[in-house]
Amino acid sequence: MANDRRPDDMVRITTPELADAFIEEQIAALQEQIKDKKVLLALSGGVDSSVVAAMLIKAIGQQLVCVHVNHGLLRKGEPEQVIEVFQNQMKANLIYVDATDRFLDKLAGVDDPETKRKIIGGEFIEVFAEEARKLDGIEFLAQGTIWPDILESEAGIKAHHNAGGLPEDMTFELVEPVKILFKDEVRIVGERLGLPANMVYRQPFPGPGLGVRCPGAITRDRLEAVRESDAILREEFAKNGLEGKVWQYFTVVPDFKSTGVKDGKRTFDWPCIIRAINTTDVMEVTVEHLSDELIDHLVSRITKEVPGINRVLFDYTPKPPATVEYE
Ligand code: XMP
Repeated sequence: MANDRRPDDMVRITTPELADAFIEEQIAALQEQIKDKKVLLALSGGVDSSVVAAMLIKAIGQQLVCVHVNHGLLRKGEPEQVIEVFQNQMKANLIYVDATDRFLDKLAGVDDPETKRKIIGGEFIEVFAEEARKLDGIEFLAQGTIWPDILESEAGIKAHHNAGGLPEDMTFELVEPVKILFKDEVRIVGERLGLPANMVYRQPFPGPGLGVRCPGAITRDRLEAVRESDAILREEFAKNGLEGKVWQYFTVVPDFKSTGVKDGKRTFDWPCIIRAINTTDVMEVTVEHLSDELIDHLVSRITKEVPGINRVLFDYTPKPPATVEYE
């Protein structure tokens, strides 16, 4: 296919006009490649898969089938936003699978970080493959591969094929409409395709989701404490002009309890750790220092509003020596 590699002389897409020209060119190429066939896409709601979805909806409309798997480890409001934007606003053919129980049942009692990651990744492929088998006549699989993924996989740093691991009898031709773009270009293209800014400019979020922010064996109550505290942190960062300025910020609820006091009674609850970091390449990371006022406000809101939390701690450790995520 044309556009298989980023041409050496390709102009960086930095303006709406350049993005529109790219979109027009890609839509023609997609229509030419796909014709009247059907395309399947795993739509996580992350930047890359969302932009691919928006592009394909423009190019082939109802011939695109999006599958959104909710593994129960998404942030507050994320599955709802995927349904609102793609099903209600863009009228996409969207299959929503709430697989929360399935994932959390499999993860129950599992405390080893790598085993947790493997279960989440493996179960995701299984749920997606099950949905794909229910559909007739799918010939293409769309993926949100971007140019750095290809460069990193060529350099042996990581395997870029998102769908790697699908059962061997499931073979599809790949459709990768943003694979010659850098991340900043994908965001501009997404905006021009009509995606909301908070979807296109959102902070990075790991594939295993909140699962890695609930260290040790995941329980539903502690996971809920991570989700609720994360929602408060995001709300406060947005209100205080830090959204889009701080590279990544999130909460972690570790699996230990300490004593506290609330309404004159003793409590025995979890702490909530806040981490906010800046970086350019994630190899080295610095800490965002928050104002005293914001720290006080976060402590107050989280201890008052999140069940199970009686203490808030701030992680001011750079990388190295600490990684960004806790497992
Ligand atoms: P670490 O913890 O390695 O994180 O310093 C660096 C960046 O990578 C993200 N991250 C992940 N992303 N799957 C992902 O898709 C993962 O398993 C994963 N682990 C870490 C992390 O959020 C940070 O931005």
